[in-house]
Amino acid sequence: MCHEKNARIPCTIMKHKALAEGVYELVLEAPGIVGEAKAGQFVNLYCKTGGKLLPRPISICETDREEGLLRLVYAVVGSGTREISGYPEGDQIEVMGPLGNGYTLDQGARHVLVGGGVGTPPLVELAKRLSGEKVIYLGFRTQPYLVESLREYGPVHVATDDGSQGHKGTVLELMEEHQVTGGMLYACGPTPMLRAVQAYALAKGIPSQLSLEERMGCGFGGCVGCVCKVRAEGGEGFAYKKVCKDGPVFDGKEVLLT
Ligand SMILES: Cc1cc2nc3c(=O)[nH]c(=O)nc-3n(C[C@H](O)[C@H](O)[C@H](O)COP(=O)(O)OP(=O)(O)OC[C@H]3O[C@@H](n4cnc5c(N)ncnc54)[C@H](O)[C@@H]3O)c2cc1C
Ligand code: FES
Repeated sequence: MCHEKNARIPCTIMKHKALAEGVYELVLEAPGIVGEAKAGQFVNLYCKTGGKLLPRPISICETDREEGLLRLVYAVVGSGTREISGYPEGDQIEVMGPLGNGYTLDQGARHVLVGGGVGTPPLVELAKRLSGEKVIYLGFRTQPYLVESLREYGPVHVATDDGSQGHKGTVLELMEEHQVTGGMLYACGPTPMLRAVQAYALAKGIPSQLSLEERMGCGFGGCVGCVCKVRAEGGEGFAYKKVCKDGPVFDGKEVLLT
């Protein structure tokens, strides 16, 4: 099923439940969206309350094309996600997508996937679509989630800031301890984690794709609410790109994380 570009589609909530404290799984009936979706793309969720006009961008966690289902996993951080967390199963929510440019699926034999907190969800669809050997590194502040979903695709190594599960410390410390090398390294998470992963990949000569979690306005290229810097072509200076339209996934050799 196709739909008009940038249309807001009312989707039925098929499942909505807590996965961890303040983290929810939301499964929507969205056949027109999942048919086109790529790993690393996102959707805009629209709140029902008039005051919250700006959409909330949420990554595509997993798609089930046969059933037309879209799985999202989100953390409650502010007023919009708090409101959404109260929507019951059977209710409808307006969704726009798929948006942005997702990951390029490398054809190599080995892939390293790195997720931090709410950067973990897009790794599920990515792991599902990549062929070859996959190893997954996840970092959380405390209680991890989506570990079992990802274990289907390869070994999962977990780090938590508080040591409640796995390695106590950062995901990068774990990668250094395991002397992780390439194939392609795919990462999604907060900027400090992406910066560390980017530096690691550049130092080891591993190609990388980084998905940025920039604050957004419209989510589809209509404002300039989400710019990031990339190395200018030819290597001199930098240029601006829109995270929502040109990204959220960028080449680790090009994006400048400030
Ligand atoms: C490409 C992309 C994918 C994302 N995927 C996920 C995901 O899978 N799961 C998840 O939990 N979170 C994800 N986020 C972060 C999520 O969009 C924000 O946590 C959410 O918009 C916060 O909304 P709020 O109303 O609760 O917070 P508020 O702080 O009240 O939001 C106020 C405004 O700022 C915007 N905003 C606030 N924080 C962010 C942010 N980090 N990124 C973009 N806009 C923001 C909101 O959309 C809203 O318009 C993603 C962000 C981006 C850019
Ligand atoms: S959020 Fe409007 S251009 Fe990116």
